[in-house]
Amino acid sequence: MDLNVLLSALLLLVPVSLVRVVRADLNYAVPEQTKRQYVIGNIAKDLGLDAKGLSHRKARIDTEDSSKRFCDVDLTTGNLIVTETIDREEICGPRTSCSLKYELVLQNPLEVHRISLEIQDINDNSPQFPKERISFEIRESADKGERFPLDEAHDLDTGRNAVQGYTLQKNENFILSVHENADGGKYAELVLDKELDREQQTDIELVLTATDGGHPQRSGTALVHVTVLDANDNIPVFTQPVYRVSLAENTPLGTEVITVSATDADEGANGDVTYELSRVTEKAAKLFSIDKASGKISVRGDIDYEEETYYELKVQAKDGPGLASTVKIIIDITDVNDNAPKIILKSLNDPVPEDTAVGAEVAIINVQDKDSGENRQIHCSFQNNVPFKLNSSVKNYFSLVTTNALDREREADYNITITATDGGSPPLSSSMTIHLSVSDVNDNPPVFDEQSYSAYVAENNKAGTSICSVTARDPDWRQNGTVLYSLLPSEVNGVPVSSFLSINADTGVIHAVRSFDYEQFRSLKVQVVSRDNGSPPLSSNATVSVFITDENDNSPQILYPAPEGKSLMTEMVPKAALSGSLVSKVIAVDADSGQNAWLSYRIVKSTDPGLFSMGVHSGEIRVQRDISESDSMKQNLVISVRDNGQPPLSATCSVYLLISDNLAEVPELKDMTYEEKSSKLTSYLIIALVSVSTFFLTFIILILAVRFCRRRKPRLLFDGAVAIPSAYLPPNYAEVEGAGTLRSSYNYDAYLTTGSHTSDFKFIRSYNDSTLPAGGTLKMSQNDPFGASMIALNTAGDDDEIMCSKN
Ligand SMILES: *[C@@H]1O[C@H](CO)[C@@H](O)[C@H](O)[C@H]1NC(C)=O
Ligand SMILES: *[C@@H]1O[C@H](CO)[C@@H](O)[C@H](O)[C@H]1NC(C)=O
Ligand SMILES: *[C@@H]1O[C@H](CO)[C@@H](O)[C@H](O)[C@H]1NC(C)=O
Repeated sequence: MDLNVLLSALLLLVPVSLVRVVRADLNYAVPEQTKRQYVIGNIAKDLGLDAKGLSHRKARIDTEDSSKRFCDVDLTTGNLIVTETIDREEICGPRTSCSLKYELVLQNPLEVHRISLEIQDINDNSPQFPKERISFEIRESADKGERFPLDEAHDLDTGRNAVQGYTLQKNENFILSVHENADGGKYAELVLDKELDREQQTDIELVLTATDGGHPQRSGTALVHVTVLDANDNIPVFTQPVYRVSLAENTPLGTEVITVSATDADEGANGDVTYELSRVTEKAAKLFSIDKASGKISVRGDIDYEEETYYELKVQAKDGPGLASTVKIIIDITDVNDNAPKIILKSLNDPVPEDTAVGAEVAIINVQDKDSGENRQIHCSFQNNVPFKLNSSVKNYFSLVTTNALDREREADYNITITATDGGSPPLSSSMTIHLSVSDVNDNPPVFDEQSYSAYVAENNKAGTSICSVTARDPDWRQNGTVLYSLLPSEVNGVPVSSFLSINADTGVIHAVRSFDYEQFRSLKVQVVSRDNGSPPLSSNATVSVFITDENDNSPQILYPAPEGKSLMTEMVPKAALSGSLVSKVIAVDADSGQNAWLSYRIVKSTDPGLFSMGVHSGEIRVQRDISESDSMKQNLVISVRDNGQPPLSATCSVYLLISDNLAEVPELKDMTYEEKSSKLTSYLIIALVSVSTFFLTFIILILAVRFCRRRKPRLLFDGAVAIPSAYLPPNYAEVEGAGTLRSSYNYDAYLTTGSHTSDFKFIRSYNDSTLPAGGTLKMSQNDPFGASMIALNTAGDDDEIMCSKN
């Protein structure tokens, strides 16, 4: 209650009866929003009137300005009651004091009392913001402490019931600062307590609450919406701190290596990232390019692992305003087997001597491959038909060594093709041919075509005639294979062989130094030496047998009867000699041999042709018919002995025959003989003749006796050898026993005679039983009585022909 009201009440209380027409002021207070019939106060009592008196006096309430009354007086009780809901805010608005003025009018007597009704505020309104949503745009770069005033909230109530404070939804960035303005209203500001980050939160919505001080308290809210505006506060960020990628060499141009990507949290131009290579070597710049927009790195040059095994690039990512960051890109280049192995000949012993020891090093080879890993594992091989192998001593070094002895004469040079293959897939390989020649060593002696040669030369050859030629071959090189021939010194019959034969040192042709005489020796043997020109020289030898072939150069020699004039030879022929009986025998020899010594006998002249006949080959003179008395006592025969040579040679002799039984007739012989040259010789000859004749006669008697005894039994064997004393053989008659191809042709038949044609028998002997001992010594055949006999020799070939034949 107001003080004024109290005073008025006191004034009213004291002289109530005094105030009749005087207007008394009644002051009442009522809270707003009370129910109807709410008793504000008792007017009757306050005026000191009886309640009946009021109705009696027709008490009524009037308003000064005839606006709404809101209250009335209850005439029965005298109470002032609320008749209509009172809203202070409707009546008074924002005014702090609100009162209604009434007048109480009484009649009989008229009395007017002023009534002042104060309307008391109650908290019936909530604070209210002008807008439900308060929007701000704040740049994220805003500093801490920056303030942003918020709209003030209003409460229709007054006093304590008006807005008393604000609260803000709890958040990270903002706090609230509340202030009082000049008219006592409260307002708030947003204060930035922590910097904003658009990239973290683009929009912030906060509930702002305004509260009043009533009971119960009322509040109102608004939504504060903060849009955070971007600032270029972010640098581009790569998705990886380092990029690492493998790239095979020889990758085709344009191939993508990797795509780098950086993101910028900023917006718009602030977040637009472009890429470029930064800080790259010149070499890498030629090989790689980057797409400005996409960050794709691609190959633009030839990548070679052998040049560089890895590259390091720096890529810069830059946003619109220019904030940049860089990232490292490591590109590991992987090897591709694109390099064939290389073979390098480090050393070569060329030529290699053929006597090189097995296992000796001939060449050193180095193999290389620029690739790596498996791709540089090199395997070396070469054709295996050569006597070499590769030894791997040190890594990637190979030594070529011999596996077998070399022989220049068999293989003088080698082409060794070495193939190196790497371990890549597919493998690459390369090859190299080493030409290796083998140099000569004098390791081959000359070798004669034949180990022994036979040559035939006709006797009486001219000095200097070539007899034959020998050939020795030496496969060595040049002087090591140059053959020189010589004769090994030896002696033939005490004479150095060099006086018989000579050899051409270069050609191997053997010449006769002198003319040979078959009758002197028939063959000679000589050792021929061939020697090469190496140092030391090597040599070998062969035997050359020279056979001298016979020529008909000797006339038959008549041994019996003695040549004319030398002796007196007269045969006695008994008168009773029958036809066919042997009278005498001409004995001749020929120093030649074979056909040349095959003698035939003919009577060329005779005193009485037809009386005697001649054995063509036996030389036997036989009586052809029975001797008659009319036949001349002295018979003279001229006999020709001819050999079978070409041309034949012949000799003649005379045989004197005396047909007589009486030796007394012998003196007559003197007449028929030729003049004696020496009486002494003659007497010797006579003795010889007589003894031979006696011998013959004895022989004939013996034969006759045998015939007589054995009637038809054929003749006795006649050993012609007995008849020919060895002393008659010519002193130079020699027989060289030969060997060789002539063996068969030297077989001869010796016909020895007895008393008749039919009693001939064959006696065969062969030369091949004996050979001339080494050294070719000639022997006199002293003990061979058949040597002087007829020899049928089938010589073949031309005497002058050079002939060396295989033995
Ligand atoms: C080696 O090669 C050379 C040249 O190609 C050739 O003249 C020679 O005959 C070859 N030698 C062998 C043994 O193949
Ligand atoms: C001959 O052989 C010797 C070794 O015996 C050798 O030194 C020489 O070089 C060879 N001569 C030729 C021409 O090959
Ligand atoms: C001849 O050669 C043989 C072997 O071929 C040898 O035994 C002999 O001693 C050599 N003779 C001479 C004189 O050199």
